[in-house]
Amino acid sequence: MTLYYSTFVSGFQDLIPRVLARRLPGAVIRQVLDGAVLYEAPADRQMITSLRCFNNSFAVLRTQAGSWDGLSQFVRTLSSDAELPRLVREHLSSGRHGFRVVVSRENQLVPLPESLLQPLEKRLARGSGLYPNRGRPQVEFWLLFRREGLFLFLLRLTRQAAGEARLEPGELRPELANLLCELSDPDATDVFLDPFCGSGSIPLERASLAPYRLIFAQDTDPGRVKALRQRVKGLRKPAQRTFFAKQVDARSMEGFDDGFVDKVVTDPPWGLYEALEERPADLYREALAECVRVLRPNGLLVWLTARDDELEAVVKEAVEGFVVEERYPILVSGRKASVYRLRKRPHE
Ligand SMILES: C[S@@+](CC[C@H](N)C(=O)[O-])C[C@H]1O[C@@H](n2cnc3c(N)ncnc32)[C@H](O)[C@@H]1O
Repeated sequence: MTLYYSTFVSGFQDLIPRVLARRLPGAVIRQVLDGAVLYEAPADRQMITSLRCFNNSFAVLRTQAGSWDGLSQFVRTLSSDAELPRLVREHLSSGRHGFRVVVSRENQLVPLPESLLQPLEKRLARGSGLYPNRGRPQVEFWLLFRREGLFLFLLRLTRQAAGEARLEPGELRPELANLLCELSDPDATDVFLDPFCGSGSIPLERASLAPYRLIFAQDTDPGRVKALRQRVKGLRKPAQRTFFAKQVDARSMEGFDDGFVDKVVTDPPWGLYEALEERPADLYREALAECVRVLRPNGLLVWLTARDDELEAVVKEAVEGFVVEERYPILVSGRKASVYRLRKRPHE
């Protein structure tokens, strides 16, 4: 078993153990922290880096409890740790790699004095096949200090979030789209709907996450629907035949019979960036009523919204047909947001 440290969208602490149990059976969680999890797993690097719920994953080389004042002592301990290069090699392919050491104090990058950094670089280079290259490294070590009073010395396994540069305006980050889909308890029999799909980040993520029966991705913007149809052409052939991108208004989804859909996962407009025909609260009320209609009894709705009293009241109360099962307060691009998991009540 190897100890790993993976980061995720802050606020999803209660969901991550469920997702890890589903995607990495055999993993044993050591500690769930704010936005990160420490877990042991018999998995290799490739399995860990393919977990789409995480922003970044690291192999844990050493940990130590203490306060920030203990930084120098922790670095000196690392610099005299003769086991370190061997531990590092276990996680790297053969060959010579340039590396750098990044230091973070409670999520802020801070410089390490040369008097501490150079001995540590020397130790890491000795016998490991690595050499310091602060400018263009292939390998990164992270020395984290967390406010829980924990130092972690880590080897980064994931590269810079690859999708980030390619995100369209307003497109959700893939890890968030993934966790929203996970919240809907994916099942191979799912008829899945995103009625406000935009670029399609949620339904495309659902398509690659797990088997399903049908996926419907809908938006009123014809340009976005057209662009999504192009992206669907990149899916595997069988997935292309079961993924439908359509121009439909979420307030009137006449194409669906009552109770046809199993899961709705969506990110409706927040009314902050785009011009809407009506107040967001009214749009929510109408769209939620349509979601209740098209969902089967006990069907699930996962709804992402700005943390806003009026909008949240609509989600919680306007539709009597739902039970609020879970709520997660999260941050989306620095903005406060809430994710609701609602279950349609069974017929009485
Ligand atoms: C917050 S964006 C969705 C972003 C999407 N999750 C993504 O990652 O790209 C909301 C989307 O709702 C669409 N929209 C606005 N009003 C709508 C309505 N009445 N019915 C369906 N879609 C609507 C907008 O065109 C926009 O693409």
